[in-house]
Amino acid sequence: MKGKTVVITGATSGLGRATAFKLAQKGAFVVIVARNDTKAKEVIKGIEMEGGKGQFIISDLSSMEDTKAAAKSITKVVDRLDVLINNAGAFFPKYRVTSEGFESTLALNYLSPFLLTHHLAELMKLTAYECGEARIINISSIMHKGPINWEDLNYKETNYNSTSAYYQSKHLLTSSTYYRSRKLKKTDISVNCIHPGFVKTALSKADYPFPMNIIVPIVGFFLGESPEQAADTPVWFASSNETKGINGEYIHHRKVKKSWPPTRDEDAQTKLFYVTQTMLGEWL
Ligand SMILES: NC(=O)c1ccc[n+]([C@@H]2O[C@H](COP(=O)([O-])OP(=O)(O)OC[C@H]3O[C@@H](n4cnc5c(N)ncnc54)[C@H](OP(=O)(O)O)[C@@H]3O)[C@@H](O)[C@H]2O)c1
Repeated sequence: MKGKTVVITGATSGLGRATAFKLAQKGAFVVIVARNDTKAKEVIKGIEMEGGKGQFIISDLSSMEDTKAAAKSITKVVDRLDVLINNAGAFFPKYRVTSEGFESTLALNYLSPFLLTHHLAELMKLTAYECGEARIINISSIMHKGPINWEDLNYKETNYNSTSAYYQSKHLLTSSTYYRSRKLKKTDISVNCIHPGFVKTALSKADYPFPMNIIVPIVGFFLGESPEQAADTPVWFASSNETKGINGEYIHHRKVKKSWPPTRDEDAQTKLFYVTQTMLGEWL
């Protein structure tokens, strides 16, 4: 990864943090996008103490204004972008609306990665043109197997269900991965998503409702991995020659898997792209 630049969101804890450290150890210049100044400084200091290089950009990624500003800041501090890892994500037990009017799960887990990717695509196209390729990796989840509430993506009129909102956000992220992979095919930018498995992080200790509050600890006990273990696949996917040319896939534990069939419905992907563009109009 020497000479390459990686942008990773949500790298102040859990999977993102472990991935950022490992990619910096491989020689990449790592830009982390984070909302917490103290935590971000600590990560970059840690990377530098190991001999790596990186920089942080402060942004609340549940805000589209902030996400757009982060993209602008990134293009000011780096002149190439080889890998973008959209990793930041959260589970919101209670219904929360952002100041821009979006339900928080939708905003952070889906709209922000969509927007960040949109605004960094030109820089990545340039990198791919000059260096042969660039890679976009969206961190999805096995918890993408839930329907899209097309009529009310923001739960304005539907009763909020935190689990459904999380499933929906990962469904949308997975679905948009496929759409964008086709859209960028001719540019030598690959777009893929990764289900990292069950990772023992702050997210795995969220305030889940029944039955998730029973299932999550049990699954975690038997199948849970540390962030360092789970970072293996994103790091491999971001850095290996083996993964060059893989495009529009759903990856788990270094293997190409099939995501839930509705996420692979191309008509729904196209509809989603236009619906999202309409929602994000003023920030595109
Ligand atoms: N853990 C699992 O079992 C699991 C399974 C499947 C998929 N995933 C996915 O993996 C990704 C990483 O999650 P994790 O398990 O590593 O959770 P985590 O430890 O809670 O990390 C989430 C990261 O996102 C950041 N973040 C949250 N809200 C943000 C905001 N508004 N603006 C900017 N950054 C924000 C957090 O920042 P702070 O440090 O400031 O909180 C943190 O760095 C997520 O997309 C998650 O959905 C996790």
